Amino acid sequence: MRELSNVNIGLIYGTDTNNTEEIGERISTVLQSHGCTVEIINVTEASADTLNDFGFLIMGIPTWDFGGIQEDWEDFEEVLLASDLTNKTVALYGLGDQFGYGDYFVDAMGWLHKHVVNIGGNVIGSWSTDGYEFEESLAANEDKTMFVGLAIDEDQQFELTDTRIAGWVEQILSEYSETVNLVA
Ligand SMILES: Cc1cc2nc3c(=O)[nH]c(=O)nc-3n(C[C@H](O)[C@H](O)[C@H](O)COP(=O)(O)O)c2cc1C
Repeated sequence: MRELSNVNIGLIYGTDTNNTEEIGERISTVLQSHGCTVEIINVTEASADTLNDFGFLIMGIPTWDFGGIQEDWEDFEEVLLASDLTNKTVALYGLGDQFGYGDYFVDAMGWLHKHVVNIGGNVIGSWSTDGYEFEESLAANEDKTMFVGLAIDEDQQFELTDTRIAGWVEQILSEYSETVNLVA
């Protein structure tokens, strides 16, 4: 894996029971091992300026209550809608429970993806649905082969999380370096 220097990443997460924060920390640790600098920000502390401060953003969101948006992200919707992410790279990760909520698996990541695309963000990091079992997901494409970002299931498949994070981080750094042509 190529090391990327001078990549400054803002990782914004929302959480109810801390899983999405913990996964953000684990993603950050792997990114740092590849030479990146990561600032981790709870969405409750984020503002329009936070979005402006970074060229590369990672956003993490869990799904709650049958396809519901985590409430701090919901509160942030107004800021998102008023923002412009043109020329910014965004990678998404979503937390969910595929066996408990298989008709709504990581739906909120689909909601966030739609908003980010609508405000001009260049989304990278789509992730194969291989190895997951779910009926429906607003974060998956029509034939359910790909998610719009990394899906993490700490309730049912926590043992796969480290491998998924490692693979996804390699992927987003490779996609990012293609975008900005920044190879160190
Ligand atoms: C009451 C309840 C409702 C949930 N609803 C969904 C859902 O609709 N879709 C889904 O994929 N996961 C659902 N989950 C699973 C959570 O998204 C999962 O536990 C996640 O790791 C929580 O992240 P957090 O700790 O960052 O809030 C639900 C969990 C609970 C307890």
